[in-house]
Amino acid sequence: MSEERERFLADGRAALEWAADYLDRVGELPVLAQVAPGEIRSRLPASPPEEAEPFSAVLRDLDEVLLPGITHWQHPRYFAYFAVTASRPGILAELLAAALNPVAILWRTSPASTELEALVCDWVAQLLGLPDGWHGHIEDAASTSTMAAMIAARHTTGRNVVVCSEHAHSAADKGARMLGMELRKVPADDEYRMRADAMDLTDAAIVIATVGTTGPGSVDPVNAIADACERTGTWLHVDAAYAGSAMVCPEHRWAFAGVERADSLVVNAHKWMLTPMDCSLLWTSRPADFRAAFSLVPEFLRTPDAEDALSLSEYGPALGRRFRSLKLWAILRCYGRDGLQRMIREHVRLAEQFEGWVRDEPGWELCAPRHFSLVCFRRDGSDAANEAILERVNASGEIFISHTRLDDRYVLRLAIGSEATTEDDVRRAWDAIRAAAA
Ligand SMILES: Cc1ncc(COP(=O)(O)O)c(C=O)c1O
Repeated sequence: MSEERERFLADGRAALEWAADYLDRVGELPVLAQVAPGEIRSRLPASPPEEAEPFSAVLRDLDEVLLPGITHWQHPRYFAYFAVTASRPGILAELLAAALNPVAILWRTSPASTELEALVCDWVAQLLGLPDGWHGHIEDAASTSTMAAMIAARHTTGRNVVVCSEHAHSAADKGARMLGMELRKVPADDEYRMRADAMDLTDAAIVIATVGTTGPGSVDPVNAIADACERTGTWLHVDAAYAGSAMVCPEHRWAFAGVERADSLVVNAHKWMLTPMDCSLLWTSRPADFRAAFSLVPEFLRTPDAEDALSLSEYGPALGRRFRSLKLWAILRCYGRDGLQRMIREHVRLAEQFEGWVRDEPGWELCAPRHFSLVCFRRDGSDAANEAILERVNASGEIFISHTRLDDRYVLRLAIGSEATTEDDVRRAWDAIRAAAA
């Protein structure tokens, strides 16, 4: 055995053991990093080493220096924003993807990763009950996916206006600003759903409908929005970055009625589909329009036509693409439809239980209808009092929650999405929140 291989195996075993131990003990660590800004950097050398160091020194510093500065997204009591899970098969597949390191600029530079990416997008489309024949590819984040949809819509319609709900993710605002597009916000109804009757689609290139909004988790009326898009020739993009995974369960599909009429759809596998960051699935029912918007093949990248058509770099902003599909393929195989359904159902059950505790407790209020695994609630009293609860409970390290504003009031959010979360963890969260309020 070469010395390099021996060292790789020894370091690899140590790294894998580190990861396994971390996943075992993460629940004992404070969820939110207990450090001040700049503290971690101040503990690291300002300049790189002149001489090579062993990999063991990296692992040591990961433990001693970096770990205190980690907010643990893998923690069973992580309930902020949208909670996520990097599952074990996903973690291992990331290692293999890095070992292969294919750079899929063109089909021929990485036939397997290109074709596997198309296949896993088809597999997930089948699991979610999406129409046959949609073209899927993977972007890094929903922000990129939604911006790509805006670009395709502008290219196709020749218009420059983006329409979305006041509760749409800020990625819509940011995308419109970066693209120099005009953004038109539509008011929502009393359940935080975009009011289709209040949309002004004059000259609108694209409407972004959201199923599972970031603040309240509300569900825009996709069918009514699709009707208006059909009348005005407007591109319909559905942002289901968080909630889209719930379509794997037939009982949640009511929320997505009309999605089959979308021109494009984004679902983040790195949110509620057990996939390590990053993996944002973007489908379009109009691949030719998408390709027309993005295809730019200079001489040095020219290959025969049949190959060109398969190059996924022709459907989005990036040329070099990493092997993201490998981790999702591993997850789909290691969990199956059944495993995904069981996780989603358990998270929704736990959220329902938490919702019930809030409903039954005097002095507390539910602030939005709960459709999936997100509960919005607040304590009777001022915004400042609720903000103080959040700060206190997060500083305790016991749980991590986040907030939003609804009807101009400060609202607490508890989002369940970690594979490791148990009923006991949710009970501890409620106890910690009530103690912080007392
Ligand atoms: C509904 C929705 N859309 C878009 C995004 C942005 O996702 P990303 O961080 O992948 O860009 C989020 C993030 O939470 C989201 O909740």
